[in-house]
Amino acid sequence: MKFLIALCIILSACAYNAMSRTLSEPSIVEAHQQWMMKYGRTYTNNSELEKRRKIFKENLEYIENFNNAGNKSYNLGLNLYSDLTSKEFIASHTGLKVPRHLSSSKKGSNTIHFNLSDDVPTKFDWRDEGAVTDVKNQQRCGCCWAFSAVAAIEGIVKIKTDSLTSLSEQQLVDCDEQNQGCNGGFMDDTFKYIIQNQGIASEAEYPYQGNDQTCQFNDQMTPAAQITSFVDVPANDEQQLLHAVAQQPISVGIAVGTEFQLYQKGVYSGTCGRDLNHAVTAVGYGVSEDGTKYWLIKNSWGKNWGEEGYIRMLRESGESEGQCGIAAHASYPTI
Ligand SMILES: *[C@@H]1O[C@H](CO)[C@@H](O)[C@H](O)[C@H]1NC(C)=O
Ligand SMILES: *[C@@H]1O[C@H](CO)[C@@H](O)[C@H](O)[C@H]1NC(C)=O
Ligand SMILES: *[C@@H]1O[C@H](CO)[C@@H](O)[C@H](O)[C@H]1NC(C)=O
Repeated sequence: MKFLIALCIILSACAYNAMSRTLSEPSIVEAHQQWMMKYGRTYTNNSELEKRRKIFKENLEYIENFNNAGNKSYNLGLNLYSDLTSKEFIASHTGLKVPRHLSSSKKGSNTIHFNLSDDVPTKFDWRDEGAVTDVKNQQRCGCCWAFSAVAAIEGIVKIKTDSLTSLSEQQLVDCDEQNQGCNGGFMDDTFKYIIQNQGIASEAEYPYQGNDQTCQFNDQMTPAAQITSFVDVPANDEQQLLHAVAQQPISVGIAVGTEFQLYQKGVYSGTCGRDLNHAVTAVGYGVSEDGTKYWLIKNSWGKNWGEEGYIRMLRESGESEGQCGIAAHASYPTI
């Protein structure tokens, strides 16, 4: 018995379980210190430390309460973003701006319908086909739109040429004047820029900096990839989206709310934002062990977030626009 109690004190997880709704001050301090060590986080002064500790505490309590409530299709957990408020996080790590004229009717002129009687596999993962590069990190720059568009282009280039090359988001941030760099953008406009520019450089040639810079793309740079056009997936139809994802990785917009920041694993069926504010890439779909259908989504928040940088989101949520609007604005480049 004594041994068990001692063990319980040693294991912080156990200690948290023993407490119900709020965590004690010493255990918060300890958990925060361990977290700071794990992620190499330091603060410039004591008031900043106190401020971040308070936010960390609120996030940790939210996570504990959420996970203890149980029986959810997904879990929350600590990650490298746990000392940011959801407002700070969304302001600095998203960046989708859907043009106003598209936000209600959605029907772009480039829409092509799939024939839904065509067969598609019951599950699919473009990573198995080698068509997905490593998870990247947009950092504190609202250019998710660039990462989403690039991942879709990397995918179709691999499918058409059998060669996977990591491409440059920074070129899009710096040079694409139809979009607003770290202040936001839209994938279809990104595809337009790449068509006009006759290509996009490789990540190696034009590496990511995470802030707005002057455009470095010039005649000496050989584009590593080109696209000829782009297509919008018919809006608010998950069956159309399914056929699209079976064809190639697809750029999608989603409405990120507070819980996304803390997502750890499972099929996400939780809260969403009010508007589409984040761009990601659908790289597959499947059915979880308990029978829940999901979309496999590549995000741009680093490998430490979610399932090694990925999130599985509920598929066929019952709403036409899909979980967090995933079927509202999907598009893909063509070669
Ligand atoms: C503490 O650091 C924060 C963040 O770097 C800064 O905004 C704030 O002005 C600093 N406060 C003091 C008292 O130095
Ligand atoms: C847990 O969730 C499943 C599926 O959502 C449901 O069938 C079951 O009744 C739930 N169990 C409890 C204890 O709430
Ligand atoms: C869809 O595919 C089915 C079966 O191959 C075919 O009979 C039908 O004509 C197609 N529909 C359209 C609109 O092409």
